[in-house]
Amino acid sequence: MIQAIRQIEAEAQTALASARNEKDIEAVAIRFLGRKGALTGFLRNIAQLPPEERAAAGKQANEAKKSLEAAVKQAKKNLSGKDRPENDTPIDISLPGRRATPGHTHPISQITQEICSILERMGFSVAEGPEVETDYYNFEALNVPKYHPARDMQDTFYISDNIVLRTQTSPMQIRVMEKQSPPVAVIAPGKVFRCDSDLTHTPMFHQVEGLLVDENVSFADLKGTLTAFVHEMFDSDTSLRFRPSFFPFTEPSAEVDILCVMCRGAGCRVCGQSGWLEILGSGMVHPNVFRSVGYDTARYTGFAFGMGVERIAMLKYGIDDIRKFFNNDMRFLRQF
Ligand code: PHE
Repeated sequence: MIQAIRQIEAEAQTALASARNEKDIEAVAIRFLGRKGALTGFLRNIAQLPPEERAAAGKQANEAKKSLEAAVKQAKKNLSGKDRPENDTPIDISLPGRRATPGHTHPISQITQEICSILERMGFSVAEGPEVETDYYNFEALNVPKYHPARDMQDTFYISDNIVLRTQTSPMQIRVMEKQSPPVAVIAPGKVFRCDSDLTHTPMFHQVEGLLVDENVSFADLKGTLTAFVHEMFDSDTSLRFRPSFFPFTEPSAEVDILCVMCRGAGCRVCGQSGWLEILGSGMVHPNVFRSVGYDTARYTGFAFGMGVERIAMLKYGIDDIRKFFNNDMRFLRQF
């Protein structure tokens, strides 16, 4: 009899030892200690034993029951924190849900989209290209040979002797013309990089390049296109002027200024008392650029322009520090 009780107890202990979670433990408890469990049944049948065996058997069975109950309790305690059943964590369904804060387009992306949409309506299509460029596309093919002093105009980040972070979107002129013959009317928005950092310069900023090539394209087309663009982008009565300038890949070249949006030409801190603000560089495509892509320089002419997106955004919104665009201060960004 005693032997049988020990047998049941040992079985129960082995079953407990291999229990992996609370469910397993509960099953063991029911199998041995439940109403129809092995040990319970044993206790119930004690009355049928010969009288001289009852006392000892009852004592033994009760002890086994107690020690098993303790073992079950301990097993549950050991389990906590290890393999908790899914339904173990209480869920308070009355708690308010977590709200997802809706974001919005970054002001620089907004202005880029606005610039592109104005020019797309004029018939330009959008092209995009690599931010890591070869020296050839960023300089050489744009009529900027090695050791040309014009390379100093742009503080280049070199990755290796022949690989740079593009300093301008102008390499896209070459990439587009290599693939397509005239007529060409493309714009190329994207990131550019220059080793420069202060109130009006960040090492990474954005440009939108423009290129139009066809027969009989003249400087008048350049002026008309850019004037229409400025009037759409700013006010339709914004005055602008074309100021002679120099770029190796355009001849003649011009920078475009708009009348200062702050002082309307009276002269202030923003425009350096000049009354004018520079917004883009432009010019007629240099024949050497056409030669590097195999275009017929006798037949085709074209114009190109490049504008800084941050600069236009600063003028449009009256922002005095370019770095505000990249600090990710939500109080600043939420205003757009
Ligand atoms: N790439 C020039 C710059 O980064 C801008 C430009 C583009 C000028 C196209 C002329 C023609 O300053």
